[in-house]
Order: sequence, then C-alpha cells, then structure tokens
Amino acid sequence: MMPLLEENVSLRPYNTFGLDVRARYFARFASADALRQLLQLPQVQAAEKLILGGGSNLLFTQDFPGIVLKNEICGLEIIGEDGAEGTALVRAGAGESWHGMVEYALDQQLSGIENLSLIPGTVGAAPLQNIGAYGAELRDTFDHLEALEVTTGALRVFSAAECGFGYRESVFKNVLKNQFVVTAVVLRLHRQARPAGYAPNVRYGAIAETLAELGITGEPTPQQVSQAVVHIRRSKLPDPAEIGNAGSFFKNPEISQAAFDRLKSQYPDLPGYPVPGGVKVPAGWLIERAGWKGLRRGAGDGTHGVHARQALVLVNHGGATGSEIRALAEEIIASVRQHFMVELHPEVNIL
Ligand code: FAD
Ligand code: EPU
Repeated sequence: MMPLLEENVSLRPYNTFGLDVRARYFARFASADALRQLLQLPQVQAAEKLILGGGSNLLFTQDFPGIVLKNEICGLEIIGEDGAEGTALVRAGAGESWHGMVEYALDQQLSGIENLSLIPGTVGAAPLQNIGAYGAELRDTFDHLEALEVTTGALRVFSAAECGFGYRESVFKNVLKNQFVVTAVVLRLHRQARPAGYAPNVRYGAIAETLAELGITGEPTPQQVSQAVVHIRRSKLPDPAEIGNAGSFFKNPEISQAAFDRLKSQYPDLPGYPVPGGVKVPAGWLIERAGWKGLRRGAGDGTHGVHARQALVLVNHGGATGSEIRALAEEIIASVRQHFMVELHPEVNIL
C-alpha cells in the first residue's frame, strides 16, 4: 500500500525538545520498499528531505519546508551464531527503539550494549553519531548496516570500516550526509555464558560506585550493569517527557596536550581524558565553571536554559523556540571561548 503523504504536520510530538514547528509534508515508512515508493513521488523528489527517527538529537529553529520521512521499519532477530567465538549476530530494523534493542539482547542472554542502556531514539540513527556512553560506543559491537541510497533506491551494505566511526561521528554525518537512509543495523554481541566468560565493562567510575550503592557485589551481570547505567542516567539527565532536551548539546572538546597543560595550571581540578593527539575535556565542566549551570532565560520563571544537574544539556522548560535555544548555545560557545580559549561544537543537529 502506498504510504500516506500528509501536509502541514506539527512536529511537536516528534522532537524531544518539544518544539512546535511544522513540516510542509510528512510520511511514515515501514519498509525499504515503502520508502522507495515515497522517494519516487514528484513532490518528494523536489523537496528537501529529513529522515526522522525519535527526534532526540534535533533542534528545529524554524518550520521544515520539505518532507519529513519517519522511519518505522521494525524487526528484531538473531541471524547467526558463532559457537566457537561465543557471539551472535542480531539484526534490528532501523525504526526499532534503541533501548528496545538493548532489552531484547539482555533477554536473549546477549551482552555488549548494556552500557548504552536508555539512550533515546532509534536503532537507525545510532550509527549516525556512533552513540556512546559509560565507556562504550556503538562501534564496539557493530558488524554492518544496510542503507538505501536516496537518489537510486539501491540497498547497500556498509561495514564498520566503511562507516568511518569516530567520537560522535560517521560518514553519514559528513561526506555521505543526506545520501543514505539506514534501514537495518546488525550487531555482533557476546553470549554471556561463553566458555571464556564475558566480563562486563565497568571501567567508567560512576558504574562501580552505583553498583555498590545498589548493593551489587562481585562481578556484575550485564543486566546489573544495565540497571546501574539506567540508575545513573535517571539521576542526571532530564526525561524529555518532562523537560524538553536532546541530551548533550555539545561534544566534549579535544584539545592539544599543551593547551590542556596551560589550563590545568590555572584550574588544577580540570578533568581530562587522554585521546590520540591530545586530551578530551568535559564540556559540562567548562560550561559550569563559566557560570551557566542552572541558568534560565525567557518569560516568567524562564522558558529555556541550562539543566541544573548537567551543564551540557540545554533544556526547553516550555514555550521556548528553537532559535532562542540556538542563541543561548551561541552565547555559551562565546563564553567558553572567552574564559578558556576552547571551542565547543554542537552535537545536536540544528535545522
Ligand atoms: P533523530 O534525532 O531522529 O535524528 C538524528 C539525525 O540522524 C538526523 O540528522 C536524522 O536525519 C538522522 N537519521 C535518523 N535516522 C536515520 C536513518 N535511519 N538513516 C539516516 N539518517 C537518519 N546520544 C549518545 O550518543 N549518548 C548518550 O548518552 C545520549 N544520551 C541522550 C540522553 C537524552 C535525554 C537525549 C534526549 C538524547 C541523548 N543522546 C545521546 C542523543 C540521541 O539519543 C542519539 O543521538 C540518538 O541516536 C538519536 O536517535 P533518533 O532516532 O532520535 O535520531
Ligand atoms: N561535569 C561538570 N559539570 C556538569 C557536568 C559534567 O563538572 O554539569 C564534569 C564532571 O567532571 C564529570 C564530567 O564532566 O565528571 C563528565 O560528566 P558525565 O559523566 O555526566 O558525562 P559528560 O561528559 O557530560 C558524556 C556524553 C553523554 C554520555 C555520558 C556518559 C558527550 C558529548 N556526552 O557526557 O552522552 O551519556 O558521557 O558516558 O560525549 C549525549 O551524547 O547526548 C550524551 C548524553
């Protein structure tokens, strides 16, 4: 059946900032074939296109003049087992919720993505910025993805190397931007009971502390690591159902060792993590020290601002526009530059 093309649709339910903007056209697709049919419609061919997942990494600063194509491709299955290696391949339709895939894996006694529990959004968007949290990234378990080329409708498989993953980066955010729609993702996960034993990754300090706080002793199971991550995330990050936000608004900047040493001599408590070619510093720390944490802007008690428990998260308390949030982000960038001579870059996709 031909997917329905709607006109002048409010995107408020479809973006976690809760911004009330409109799309000129809007359609959902539940298969690669349906997407192909949509892409052949004259109105769609002529229009600017936005592939939408859960809308949890987007900031709309105006109405969208083209067509929003909402990915609803479902399906979760184990497509292969490697007994000797103790791994299984899990394939998910790109419209599945990411956390749903984590829960499915844990139910199937498969581990490797428990540290990425509760990240909002869809499976199909996960490779776009190589989602990461609590010491893990998508690329650690990624096997391949399937994507449909917008101009030809052809399906193509991308290996991990072809995706060009980096910190919050992939080819789909730069050289291949807007050229492919991810339709499925395949991960290689660990069988928990494999002979050599799979050790969950608890290197991120807060996980060990939280496990202890939850009374979990000894080597935790992947389910317990997931539980700890969910606990930490709920204590720090605002729930978009209550306060509009898109998670970290900026990336954590990577600076040279010399720049880090200079800052560290001035601010001895500045945290830093070694990365190839320099040091990654937490943008949340820089923003907090520049005095922005908990700030509210706009009418009444404030319509938007910087989250009081996580300075890296910009929030819509209700009634803000995307342009106001973008203006605040620009002020923060200028302020961090002035205080620390460090350049912040948005992680959120600004439209
Ligand atoms: P959307 O916001 O719908 O889209 C994001 C971008 O991907 C857009 O450019 C869109 O066009 C493109 N896109 C979406 N689907 C496809 C597709 N199938 N094919 C091609 N392009 C596509 N991120 C992290 O990495 N780590 C975190 O810990 C984390 N925590 C968060 C916490 C909160 C409370 C929130 C609100 C967000 C957080 N995020 C985090 C950001 C966000 O959840 C991820 O970036 C997520 O992968 C976005 O998925 P989505 O489906 O909502 O994508
Ligand atoms: N910090 C502050 N003040 C703040 C926030 C953070 O000083 O208000 C400092 C603290 O020193 C803290 C350090 O920053 O120790 C790191 O903070 P946190 O563990 O909360 O992580 P983050 O660097 O702020 C990153 C990711 C998150 C991810 C967490 C957990 C980026 C841009 N953000 O945040 O991802 O969930 O680590 O791994 O890398 C997202 O991408 O949307 C996102 C939420």
